[in-house]
Amino acid sequence: MLETLRLDGRVAVVTGASRGLGRAMALALAEAGGDLALAGRSKPDLEETAHRVERLGRRALVVPTDVRILAEVEALMGRAVTGLGRLDILVNNSGVAHVGPFAEGPPEEWSRMLETNLTGVLNGCRAAAPHFLAAKRGKVINVASMLAAVGLPHYAVYSATKGGIVAFTRTLAVEWARHNIQVNAIAPGWFVTDMNAHAFANEKLRERLLRDIPLRRTGREEEIGPLAVYLASPASDFMTGQTIYLDGGHSAA
Ligand SMILES: NC(=O)c1ccc[n+]([C@@H]2O[C@H](COP(=O)([O-])OP(=O)(O)OC[C@H]3O[C@@H](n4cnc5c(N)ncnc54)[C@H](OP(=O)(O)O)[C@@H]3O)[C@@H](O)[C@H]2O)c1
Repeated sequence: MLETLRLDGRVAVVTGASRGLGRAMALALAEAGGDLALAGRSKPDLEETAHRVERLGRRALVVPTDVRILAEVEALMGRAVTGLGRLDILVNNSGVAHVGPFAEGPPEEWSRMLETNLTGVLNGCRAAAPHFLAAKRGKVINVASMLAAVGLPHYAVYSATKGGIVAFTRTLAVEWARHNIQVNAIAPGWFVTDMNAHAFANEKLRERLLRDIPLRRTGREEEIGPLAVYLASPASDFMTGQTIYLDGGHSAA
């Protein structure tokens, strides 16, 4: 039964693979047998992820990409297919957060979040579409956030981008079901990464944030990998359109 979780011979594109949750998911997909095309803007960090993938015995391709630009994302999918031979899995993980009172937030930051978090996901799906539609199969994993379902002050625009991802995931899944392409989302709760390390370094704020999590702790990076492997593998062929909250119970409380 566990064989259905293997990804041998499959090729995955992971955006935001240069660090944090994207790197963790890329390494998990490699451990399950997949080859990886790694995207993000920071080439040295992508190269570090690539070395780790190769140490697991899998192939890795570093493709510096800005997910806000459709032409770059289309080139990324092309590089994955020419360099690794095929395209089976897309993990749209790149994201940014600007935290602060909505009434004071600079509109340039709204654009940066909307373009990276939401347009980035649309660009990924659009660019992968010709490959998945031709193959009559594909797996899309969009990374949303627990904040799509929970209101937290100072995250209004970020939450809007993530709510958009949840709605987009649901509808695209229905649209692409007849092509045998499964589209799901992971909505992480708090994982301490570069994105929020400053908040968790503040003892008072850390305590305040942990109070809202029934399991009373943040997620560990290695805890997102198995879910990504499941959603990327044939084990999840009957699941589509879903957003899975990996958040220590935060959104359930
Ligand atoms: N950590 C959490 O608690 C948490 C909770 C819920 C959801 N999430 C979501 O999880 C995802 C990963 O976040 P993380 O916590 O791992 O944060 P992170 O460590 O800051 O990583 C963010 C990633 O996104 C990439 N990225 C940012 N802008 C990009 C762009 N324009 N083009 C391509 N790549 C871009 C970054 O790579 P470069 O800088 O090299 O481009 C980096 O690899 C995000 O979508 C985030 O919203 C995180």
